[in-house]
Amino acid sequence: MTNIAILGFGVVGGGVADLLTKNIDCTAKLGGDEINIKYILDLRDFPKSPFADRVIHDFNIIASDPEIDCVIEVMGGSHPAYEYTVASLKAGKSVITSNKEVVAKHGDEFLRIAKENGVCYRFEAAVGGGIPVISPIINCIGQNRITEIRGILNGTTNYILTKMFTYGKSFDESLKDAQAFGYAERNPDADVLGIDACRKITILTALATGKLLSTDKVHTEGIISIRSEDVKAAEKLGMQIKLLGRCIITDEGMHVLVAPFMIGADSPLSTVSGVYNAVEVIGKPLGNVMFYGQGAGAGATASAVVGDLMQIMRSGRNYAEPVWTRSDEGLLDISTLESKHYIAVCGADLTTVEAMLGAVQVIENGKELSFITDKLSEKQVASVIERLRASGAKLRSSIRLI
Ligand code: HSE
Repeated sequence: MTNIAILGFGVVGGGVADLLTKNIDCTAKLGGDEINIKYILDLRDFPKSPFADRVIHDFNIIASDPEIDCVIEVMGGSHPAYEYTVASLKAGKSVITSNKEVVAKHGDEFLRIAKENGVCYRFEAAVGGGIPVISPIINCIGQNRITEIRGILNGTTNYILTKMFTYGKSFDESLKDAQAFGYAERNPDADVLGIDACRKITILTALATGKLLSTDKVHTEGIISIRSEDVKAAEKLGMQIKLLGRCIITDEGMHVLVAPFMIGADSPLSTVSGVYNAVEVIGKPLGNVMFYGQGAGAGATASAVVGDLMQIMRSGRNYAEPVWTRSDEGLLDISTLESKHYIAVCGADLTTVEAMLGAVQVIENGKELSFITDKLSEKQVASVIERLRASGAKLRSSIRLI
């Protein structure tokens, strides 16, 4: 019998309890080993829940109970998730989490403490919800030289962008829809400002490089400035706009960023719509592989959490966990990243633009001038924008192409 405690009985915690008790016979799949939910820690009581008798409010009961083998931390946020994780690992309990915030901030420390205490720290659900991506990168792809990881890592923003493209809705209308369906939080900042995707690309970068970057060093843009004019311009080019997390690794170092990108129909990422996520990994000699599926939601996230639990029960410490070092070494300044750019300006004429850039691919040349540049470094783009401003033009939008 494996006794577990669930920290947090919200959407994900409820999904984990349901999955373990209703949906599958884990015991049979584990060759007879049973899973018992001994405690559920939450600030609230749940008198009508079938798990009401397991709900407790004092974490110390869990930390000091030698019968608890594994703690499932699905509370979200940094505190007290950080303190509870450290205490659980030090008490010899494996920890599984879906909490990307705490993994991106403290994953290096948790993996070290887990190792020192002969237990596991696993976080499959922290990136891509139900998509198996962490474990395959560690177990199946690690022998490759990874040159890029790029992905649609946030379901809420992908849902909003899909609405803008499919139904011609504005950003504000699409956000309201996402809130009505329960995808976006009432305060949607972490999603729409790219913060959630930043945490996820930081975790993926650590898997590829062994270095856990400071999230505040990762260039992060959200989708709040995307307008219907940008959507129409992308459509004219047969492209989509997607919020991507990217980690590009070269001999010089790595560029890591979160930003909206215009992507062509030939990229498999362009077909990922709604709340779905996808992660594309490019490596040598592997080539490209893509992981695709539901990036959020109770059932999908619980699937990843329970998968981690069953993996620990099957292989325990024989499972090879990564070793991460907290370091920003090798992180290249965004100013050196080269891409083609879509630029939309008001009050500029094509002659002035082409005098600066040579021939550009014009999309609109009316009240607003929009065009695609050749490959330019961010530094060059900044200089062009500055010169356009100095000539009296007003930049409305600038989006990288992939
Ligand atoms: N807010 C996140 C998203 C939840 O929309 O993708 C899953 O991490």
